[in-house]
Amino acid sequence: MIRKFILIAAMTVPTLTFAEEPARDAILADYAKQAGQVDTAFTRFSAERGEALFRTDWVGGDPRTPSCTSCHTDNPRGPGRNAKTGRPIDPVAVSVNAARFTNRDDVEKQFGRDCKSVMGRACTALEKGDYITFMMGQ
Ligand code: HEC
Repeated sequence: MIRKFILIAAMTVPTLTFAEEPARDAILADYAKQAGQVDTAFTRFSAERGEALFRTDWVGGDPRTPSCTSCHTDNPRGPGRNAKTGRPIDPVAVSVNAARFTNRDDVEKQFGRDCKSVMGRACTALEKGDYITFMMGQ
């Protein structure tokens, strides 16, 4: 109940509070370019779509991890726990963890691994950009 309230309160706070970070901006710009190549109607990433991706229970991946929240939990600002190994995971929200999404190799490696585990497929550039945009507002 309280958790639900906090969630709703969090969702009503304006989402795009940009913490300027050139490395993260460059990664996002790259995904935007790729998204534009796939769909010429692409205009911008969406925190709302990114949140939906984060919270959806997907079908087709590893049954132990139906959702990004299986490991990163419902609350991006809190610590996570790997549902497969039990190991702790640092918070994914940029407001809590300024180093998030600043190393291109790490970002690509984890999207590859985690999208496969949860969705049973790779994430698109649009999905990756939406996800990072959501986490930048968290
Ligand atoms: C099996 C557990 C697990 C699931 C499920 C999971 N992740 Fe992760 N994720 C991790 C671990 C472990 C790391 C690496 C450690 C870290 O970055 O703190 C990570 C890191 C990441 C990173 C890298 C962040 C950075 O700052 O470099 C991205 C991007 C990411 N996850 C996206 C996702 C997305 C999108 C989903 C859902 C489709 C998802 N994760 C689901 C375990 C998981």
